[in-house]
Amino acid sequence: MTNEINHANPAALHSVPYHVGIIMDGNGRWAQARGRPRLAGHQAGVDNIRRILEASVRYGIKVLTIYAFSTENWQRPMDEVMGLMQLLSLTIKRQLNELHKNGVQIRHSGRMAGINPDLQAQIRHALEVTQHNDRIILNVAFNYGGRAEILDAVRQVIADGIPPDSLTEELFSRYLYTCDLPDADLIIRTGGEWRLSNFLIWQAAYAEYYTTPTYWPDFDEEELYKALLEYNARERRFGRVLQQT
Ligand code: IPE
Ligand code: IPE
Ligand code: MG
Repeated sequence: MTNEINHANPAALHSVPYHVGIIMDGNGRWAQARGRPRLAGHQAGVDNIRRILEASVRYGIKVLTIYAFSTENWQRPMDEVMGLMQLLSLTIKRQLNELHKNGVQIRHSGRMAGINPDLQAQIRHALEVTQHNDRIILNVAFNYGGRAEILDAVRQVIADGIPPDSLTEELFSRYLYTCDLPDADLIIRTGGEWRLSNFLIWQAAYAEYYTTPTYWPDFDEEELYKALLEYNARERRFGRVLQQT
């Protein structure tokens, strides 16, 4: 058969990453290339989430963590920050029912403090409504920073009076925003940069990395498939030698 049919064939993947993290970068440049304001790029970026979420379900990905707003993104111009906050609010309003109907469990990774109280309430509502869904987990990293996450975890560990000797990696992981979610298997970054930008720095310790120059709004199912194919070609050794595994 033709390559095209093969391309979208989930069965061709012998191993599918359980937890995929996506650094959705390049919205601003996507808009700029079209002579449009950066926020138009963010809107196009939000629209793309649905397409990739649906494809992820088809491929059998169980957890999708999307980097939507970093703790560093507050330093952007005020109108862009406000626009991004508004976009999240509108997206929850417009898409929560549909996501819920489709069995999507929404999670939030990030600091609630700093987010406008009305938006906080909307986020909490979305988490509560979808908490028992199990088709896929959409974990939204919003006001998220990997260092902030580790600091928040350390603070809570201390507050809980955990004796130093009983603190293991497993126990510490449960104090992270991701709590019971497994480590990331694959991190995809769109927009061409080769850096983590403070994303899942604990959970991605042994993740595979994939970068594409494609801007996030243009990253489609075919592009996701390419990333999954590349993941399939990787040999994950976790520090061991191959014969041992
Ligand atoms: C990523 O796109 C989305 C957010 C950081 C909110 P950017 O806005 O960083 O797009 P570029 O990198 O400027 O093109
Ligand atoms: C990372 O993108 C954050 C998100 C995608 C939300 P940035 O555009 O903020 O990262 P840098 O500034 O290029 O490192
Ligand atoms: Mg960027």
